[in-house]
Amino acid sequence: MALAGGPAAVAATKRLPIKSGPNGLSRASGGVTTKIVGGTAVPNGKYKFQAALLAQSFGTNDFERQYCGGSLITPFEVLTAAHCVDFIGDEPDDEIPLSDLRVVVGRTVLTSTQGQKRRAAAIDIHPKWNPNTFSFDVAVVHLASPISRIAPVQLVTPGVDALERPGTLATVTGWGNTIQQPAGPGGGGTNFPDRMREARVPITSRAECRTAYAAAGLAITATMLCAGRTNLDTCQGDSGGPLFFKSAGPGYIQAGITSWGIGCGATGFPGVYTRLSNRGVGNFILAVTGGVPVTSAQAA
Ligand code: ARG
Repeated sequence: MALAGGPAAVAATKRLPIKSGPNGLSRASGGVTTKIVGGTAVPNGKYKFQAALLAQSFGTNDFERQYCGGSLITPFEVLTAAHCVDFIGDEPDDEIPLSDLRVVVGRTVLTSTQGQKRRAAAIDIHPKWNPNTFSFDVAVVHLASPISRIAPVQLVTPGVDALERPGTLATVTGWGNTIQQPAGPGGGGTNFPDRMREARVPITSRAECRTAYAAAGLAITATMLCAGRTNLDTCQGDSGGPLFFKSAGPGYIQAGITSWGIGCGATGFPGVYTRLSNRGVGNFILAVTGGVPVTSAQAA
């Protein structure tokens, strides 16, 4: 099973190159052209809240350094996947020092100088993050100095799944691999875009997603949300980025974080996202960003 950065591929995901294929090739060896799987190019300046996580030691330019996505949720904080940052820090078992991490927002083309780049002051990883099951794949990066004049994305309310109706179209964005990856053995090849891509993915019913992954022995837990269909998906390098909806008011509302999947855009296996409506996920984010947790009395 060619699991690309998911529960059964934990060892592979824990390596530095989250973007790397099953064979461990880094993205730097990929060509520079189009598409996320099945998406379209994003014009300059759209989705300024989208973040690119960069590791200085991964390359000599920001295209080579980008390995995950994220989203600006306050002027001081970027939301991402736990698996994008759980190897970074200054503890003995960390693979990369915190000083190596950069976050850039307001950038559409990685090799450009668009947007605002920051160092990280600290990282909070969900205490229940489980790299074996990929439950609670959520983390918050605290920036060394705030971002100015870029509107953060809004987050869904913990305990409220109103935007998760099956079939509803959500938007996913990032600089991940644009080539469909098969569910079976063997890779589908890599093509990492310099320009951000977006795709509109349908929310999958929980029963359908559970059934699909149960056949592969993998659990879709309460902290996971599924979306996508054949040839329409996120892929390696998109992890940590947002799954979101256009708000009825100004801006966008994020409901998921790109987390894992079997293959990419493979028939029968939708992409799996960290579910921000899950109270344990949502209230963790509120707690580490100084927000007020939503209790079960408020959201039953
Ligand atoms: N784990 C991947 C990453 O680190 C994201 C995989 C998403 N896969 C999918 N089929 N939607 O970039």
